[in-house]
Amino acid sequence: MSAIDYSQKIPNNVNLNSDRVLQRALEQWQPNFLSWWGDMGPEGSHQHDVYLRTATSAEPSGWAHFDYVKMPDYRWGIFLSPQVQDRKIHFGEHMGEDVWQEVPGEHRANLRRIIVTQGDTEPASVEQQRHLGLTAPSLYDLRNLFQINVEEGRHLWAMVYLLHRYFGRDGREEADALLQRRSGQEDNPRILGAFNEQTPDWLAFFMFTYFTDRDGKFQLCALAESSFDPLARTTKFMLTEEAHHMFVGESGVSRVIARTCELMKKHNVEAPDQVRALGAIDLQTIQRYLNFHYSVTLDLFGADQSSNAATFYNTGLKGRYEETKRGDDHLLKDRGYKILNVVDGKLVEKEVPMLNALNEVLRDDFIKDSEAGVGRWNKVIEKAGLPFRLTVPHKAFNRQIGTLSGVRIAPDGRPVSQEEWNAKASEWMPTAADRAYVASLMGRVVEPGQYANWISAPLSGINKQPLDIPYVRFN
Ligand SMILES: [Fe+2]
Ligand SMILES: [Fe+2]
Repeated sequence: MSAIDYSQKIPNNVNLNSDRVLQRALEQWQPNFLSWWGDMGPEGSHQHDVYLRTATSAEPSGWAHFDYVKMPDYRWGIFLSPQVQDRKIHFGEHMGEDVWQEVPGEHRANLRRIIVTQGDTEPASVEQQRHLGLTAPSLYDLRNLFQINVEEGRHLWAMVYLLHRYFGRDGREEADALLQRRSGQEDNPRILGAFNEQTPDWLAFFMFTYFTDRDGKFQLCALAESSFDPLARTTKFMLTEEAHHMFVGESGVSRVIARTCELMKKHNVEAPDQVRALGAIDLQTIQRYLNFHYSVTLDLFGADQSSNAATFYNTGLKGRYEETKRGDDHLLKDRGYKILNVVDGKLVEKEVPMLNALNEVLRDDFIKDSEAGVGRWNKVIEKAGLPFRLTVPHKAFNRQIGTLSGVRIAPDGRPVSQEEWNAKASEWMPTAADRAYVASLMGRVVEPGQYANWISAPLSGINKQPLDIPYVRFN
């Protein structure tokens, strides 16, 4: 059942041809998806042969197949992780009952909203990244960008399948709307803020895939616990694809840092303008990019207190990160959780019912995970013998959503006046001049095994291939 049938128009492992009506509806959506890809997918890329991986099975072992593919010919399809026999609901008020194979009427609206919100992020990131192919620092990086893009396209398929299969006409309408919204467009934007920001250069792309794809990981992990079994199974498989996206982000930033440190040591310079004179990205600018992408991503977890979050948990729609590994009662009725509150312009901890603070719980799990990678980036700087250290800003820094949106907080957690904020913002967040400088470095490198001056080579190739194969062939 988990082997993927590639003989069909829409590859799948859900026996799509046993449901003709559904199959026809999805086959009608398919050309609209392809036309969206043609318009909003990676710019000028449609004739390239790209060394891509394609899923061959949804089993944990050996699901990937690598070959040269033109992206419009990529076999996007519907892949769910294998069904777990007798799976039971393991949190919330339905705990112990069988999981749902169909959508319970009373949870229909909430589930649809969760699926649409997740689904909307997938095409959004493709749109945000569509110009980056023109300035890739190497063929290796270009190939990784395209791999991420086609997989985000497949994640859209994953959510659209659920909408078509389980939500009738409303679901089909939502699936159409997912192809109509556009990242950053004023009259019909994507649903979530971070997905309307631009990803204008490769440092932004690496930060996005490190931080914002990691938000994706935590949301998908919470949905993989869902009592609605098809949602749990589809997000589980999406997570296997997501891991590569975060790898691209972490290793990408790490390579930028490595190159900067290498040039700083070689020329014995430290000041940002001296580093820039060498054509590298100074560590201070990297810190400002980090501050921006981190804080914008924190907002994606939603308000720190949320009755919706409590409802989603109680009713079994969305669990916590690693729900099954937690040793508590999985009901959380009498438990509290500390969130930050603003009193007289100061941050004060406040205990609230945990059920209402589940967005914050997930955000804190994300923070721990994010910090680990920043520590690994610092190891690169430390190894070079340089004193600079990157830091994750305080979680109240630059927030636009929830209680913390009402205060100005410095990266070190200190409340500051609006005046101080205005005076220091250019030290804390990328300025137009920073972005222009980084943009000035971006230029396409197309010789196999060559890299732009501002980034070092990766440690190893894709699928154990050498570094100097043509990962993308231009036609
Ligand atoms: Fe995704
Ligand atoms: Fe992703």
